[in-house]
Amino acid sequence: MKRTHHCNEIRADHIGQEVTLNGWVHSRRDLGGVLFIDVRDREGRTQTVFDPSDVDQALFDRAASLHSESVIAVRGKVRQRPEGTDNDKIPTGHVEILVAEMEVLNAADVLPFQVDDPEVAAKVHEELRLKHRYLDLRRPELARNLRIRSKAATTTRFFLDAEGFSEIETPLLFKSTPEGAREFLVPSRVHPGEFYALPQSPQQFKQILMVGGVERYFQLARCFRDEDLRADRQPEFTQIDIEMSFIDREDIYALIEGLLKEIWKKTIDHEVTTPFLRLTFEEALNRFGIDKPDTRFAMELVDFTEDFKSSAFKVFSGMVAKGGVVKAINAKAYADVTQGQMETMTELAKSFGAKGLAYIKVEGGEWKSPIVKFFSDAEKASLQEKLGIEEGDLILFAADEWLNACEILGKIRLYCAEILQAQGKLTLDPHRFDFLWVTDFPLLSFDQEMNRWYSSHHPFTAPVAEDIPFLTEDPKRVRGQHYDIVVNGVELGGGSIRIHQPDVQKTVFEQVLQLPEEVVQERFGYMLEAFRYGAPPHGGIALGFDRMIALLCGCQSIRDVIAFPKTAKAADLLSESPARVEAKQLRDLHLHLKVAAPKGEKSEP
Ligand code: AMO
Ligand code: AMP
Repeated sequence: MKRTHHCNEIRADHIGQEVTLNGWVHSRRDLGGVLFIDVRDREGRTQTVFDPSDVDQALFDRAASLHSESVIAVRGKVRQRPEGTDNDKIPTGHVEILVAEMEVLNAADVLPFQVDDPEVAAKVHEELRLKHRYLDLRRPELARNLRIRSKAATTTRFFLDAEGFSEIETPLLFKSTPEGAREFLVPSRVHPGEFYALPQSPQQFKQILMVGGVERYFQLARCFRDEDLRADRQPEFTQIDIEMSFIDREDIYALIEGLLKEIWKKTIDHEVTTPFLRLTFEEALNRFGIDKPDTRFAMELVDFTEDFKSSAFKVFSGMVAKGGVVKAINAKAYADVTQGQMETMTELAKSFGAKGLAYIKVEGGEWKSPIVKFFSDAEKASLQEKLGIEEGDLILFAADEWLNACEILGKIRLYCAEILQAQGKLTLDPHRFDFLWVTDFPLLSFDQEMNRWYSSHHPFTAPVAEDIPFLTEDPKRVRGQHYDIVVNGVELGGGSIRIHQPDVQKTVFEQVLQLPEEVVQERFGYMLEAFRYGAPPHGGIALGFDRMIALLCGCQSIRDVIAFPKTAKAADLLSESPARVEAKQLRDLHLHLKVAAPKGEKSEP
């Protein structure tokens, strides 16, 4: 009983034909002694009819006793549905199959949760759904996500192949490079006491491939990072990883704009407009308070440093005197902010070390605020003009050191947008994608606690050529040749032009990042050596593939676009990993555990 058609194929032109369908029992209804079973496969579903006057009683009884999600094959004649019984919601809703024969390919047990109604299924506790992921994957939404994912992967391969790239696999058993995120370690059996690490990204190998003369490399690369997980992070995830030789930043921008345009077209038939907007890191911070701005709505940060430098309000003028800035945003129509929301925002400002969060509520034609009384007419006029203040607005201020002030208002801007969306005062078009590049990041950031500089991106990023002389004298002013690609406030990817001169790389490691020479030699010696034998100038980028698919599918969490994702606690509930291993395995790996074995299990000797 092999299928002749799939379950979303039968239409009025098939009426009178005999067809065979294979699929799952989606739903079953018994109406006045006649049995209706919707048979579903990945394409859709078709109604089948078991009429006791047409089929023998044994077959009818078997069909009537089937649980949902049993797998069956049915053969029968296509007929028009009787008047008034059409279902306009599905493409096969005008026909049905009068069953002559059925084979039960596999009877299902009673399910742990209902899957025929996607809305009900989506509400089932996520843990239960992850434990039975195979059931959840039958939901049309998840099935669609995986197909979009596959299409995006294929499109990427075709596009990059046509651009002359080779897809090259790099090792998953790599070496520990503890500069970045925490790693997953793999103990070696053959080398007692030694470990591999799973790669955080193929960064070093792809650069070595450039030294190896490959010139254009890509990989749909699996990466591993033992980080705290969030909706947009998984411990293992996929990147579209790219590296090219003899190029500059413009070549990367053009390539990626072309690739994303093609992916958006082929997967969801959306026209992406190129070239993308470009913002420097400084402009992104100044205007949106974040290096991954969501530009689908305005609520931009406005600078008032000049306007308040000699203000009677000392919180502002004092900050300006100390070299800080005064910035504000206008949250339109949010004067009805609740006490609780105001407290949340104030706490947020305080978490950055600010003393508070000054505000003005515009209600009943009045500026209600504990601080307006300190403002001069000129100060009020400039607020009015630059913020376009109207009835119902809420103005929020940050007076702080530049980066802090930007980041405080950046966070508050997103918080306000979320509330205003929930209140229906701000609507974001779900079909809108605001792509942009953020460029000119500072090469280095300062870690107050450790009292040292660290790489904003990674230590292989090249400084902007004219800033190289400041590497050791004034690291703060060195810009990196780094770029991020951002969509609707999501950091989709990042990359850079790399350092290809061994002496510059050594300076960055030893003098700027202050890694001891032996450590550099041990961890990166092989790279520094490779660079001495003819390393071409090169650069690249990695796009978060899971995040990209989540954007294409309109999903909030990347878990919904990964076939077998892990929970927030990095567990796979389906296979129940991680799990304990046998004492012998540990012995073979020369490992001795400090945690006790669970009761009843022998701890290893
Ligand atoms: P980076 O660390 O910025 O760069 O990573 C690139 C992109 O990968 C995605 N990403 C993640 N997605 C899901 N879960 C995670 N835990 C996770 N971490 C990162 C993000 C991010 O923008 N080797 C460099 C790239 C280069 O310089 O070429 C790198 O890995 O979308
Ligand atoms: P104070 O004079 O310290 O009572 O502060 C007056 C107002 O300014 C209060 O509403 C504070 O929340 C607010 N405020 C204090 N420090 C800052 C700051 N750094 N940025 C913005 N507002 C502040």
